[in-house]
Amino acid sequence: MKRISLLELAHNIAGSYLKPGDIAVDATLGNGHDTLFLAQSVGVKGLVFGFDIQQRALIKSYQRLLEYDLQSRVKLCLASHADMRRHIPEQWHGRVRVAMFNLGYLPGADKTVITQIDSTLAALHEACALLAPVAAITVLAYPGHPGGELDAEQLAAWCQRLDKANFTSEEILSHHDKPGAPRLFVIRKQSDLL
Ligand SMILES: C[S@@+](CC[C@H](N)C(=O)[O-])C[C@H]1O[C@@H](n2cnc3c(N)ncnc32)[C@H](O)[C@@H]1O
Repeated sequence: MKRISLLELAHNIAGSYLKPGDIAVDATLGNGHDTLFLAQSVGVKGLVFGFDIQQRALIKSYQRLLEYDLQSRVKLCLASHADMRRHIPEQWHGRVRVAMFNLGYLPGADKTVITQIDSTLAALHEACALLAPVAAITVLAYPGHPGGELDAEQLAAWCQRLDKANFTSEEILSHHDKPGAPRLFVIRKQSDLL
């Protein structure tokens, strides 16, 4: 049996929602792997908004997109994901199909610049407000980081508080059944009003 990583699973889930022409958000650009995946998935008429607080992440992501000539599909924002609503033009509010969060630090850079649970929860709140009627958010969390276990608990508690008329959530544990193993939170929106 082939075991897939939680990152692959996050891509599979996000990909199952995305169609050509869709709007997507990469809330944590990092080295741009998720942004590249999203840009490929939304097609030539789609658009991806990517956020990171480090210039280096924007440069890395831009370079990756250039390699595939996909840079015109992505708006890179040097800003906290907590401010995403201000950076995404109003015409796209209520139309975001997928938002991906990959928490932690930028691999190969300063490990002390790391996502913080308060801004992560604020960003998740903003992302929920921007979603299309049928949409999903994936959050890959790494409880192995200092403080990461508490962050994962707070994420789980936040998911429990979601409006159940519109959202469902699940927490998927890694195969590596050891303390600190990554966890994937999947939040799905399916409005009752449809
Ligand atoms: C694990 S990396 C993301 C990996 C990335 N998705 C990829 O595909 O390579 C986490 C990123 O979150 C960024 N970050 C930390 N706090 C942030 C915030 N408040 N808003 C946006 N990005 C943030 C870090 O700078 C880092 O680049």
